[in-house]
Amino acid sequence: MTSSSSKPRILVSRAIFPEVLAQLEAVFEVEHNQADAVWSAQDLTARLQGKDGVLTTGGERISAELLQACPQLKICANMAVGFNNFDVPAMTARGVQGTNAPDVLTETTADFGFALMMATARRMAESEHFLRAGLWKRWSYDMFCGSDIHGATLGILGMGRIGQGIARRGFHGFGMKVIYHNRSRLDAGLEAACGAQYVDKSTLLAQADHLVLLLPYSAESHHSIGAAELALMKPTATLTNIARGGIVDDAALAHALRSGQIAAAGLDVFEGEPQVHPDLLTVPNVVLTPHIASATLNTRRAMAQLAADNLLRFFATGEVLTPVNTLGAVRR
Ligand code: DGY
Repeated sequence: MTSSSSKPRILVSRAIFPEVLAQLEAVFEVEHNQADAVWSAQDLTARLQGKDGVLTTGGERISAELLQACPQLKICANMAVGFNNFDVPAMTARGVQGTNAPDVLTETTADFGFALMMATARRMAESEHFLRAGLWKRWSYDMFCGSDIHGATLGILGMGRIGQGIARRGFHGFGMKVIYHNRSRLDAGLEAACGAQYVDKSTLLAQADHLVLLLPYSAESHHSIGAAELALMKPTATLTNIARGGIVDDAALAHALRSGQIAAAGLDVFEGEPQVHPDLLTVPNVVLTPHIASATLNTRRAMAQLAADNLLRFFATGEVLTPVNTLGAVRR
């Protein structure tokens, strides 16, 4: 789309809160997608022609090819804390600013991670399906027995802000022993606040009663949990993933769940989502949710607002609030 307006031109690639869109429309020339149409990579590239900025929601890939085809693009503002949809080195090389939406979703996402872990350990989805199917005829002493959360060992792989939030919930709220593994160890003050003890990855896998994954997705974290790692876990253990699909080898996980190598899993993210590995759809001992860990209205609104604020700030001052890359000279 071309225009004679001197306002920066922005693409908002998915439907967002109307009040946030209105703020952008007051300042920029905006092309939006409030109909929430599904755009292919080619559609996105075509819509970005002549655009100075884009608000993405985490599912839209900003690749080196796209950047090459959209030389006017100066900023990509993600409405997500994860930004594995961005080719950050390519953005930096082209002088394109990237931003994400951290902090505003930390506690909401930690709430959900803890809830999913509890639902998994206490077999809530499996027992609900049983009830809805009319199979509940009478009580029995071992019907849907799960495992305790209180007093159990909580293992966290990836101890960023959300991991620390889950650790605090487990330690202070449920008297859990908390162990974690992370690329770098937390300082002593943060460890004490979470009641968390640093261990190596094998110890984490072997000792956790409930393992929660919070690693950022990258080539290095791809299939961090596969057959070999699952084999180290206790047969009574649960695994919860609210980080990114691709961190877990879903086929290996489905096999481990079916064979009883681990007790249960709770998954909010999937490799290739919204497609879900067919084997996961047929194992009973897994709770499946459609990438909703940050989904409360307050938090989603705050995420959209932060993405919008990054765009507004960038075009007003050349600065952003939550950068994911550092540029030399800023293009405005
Ligand atoms: C995030 O913010 O990264 C969540 O996964 C929502 O996309």
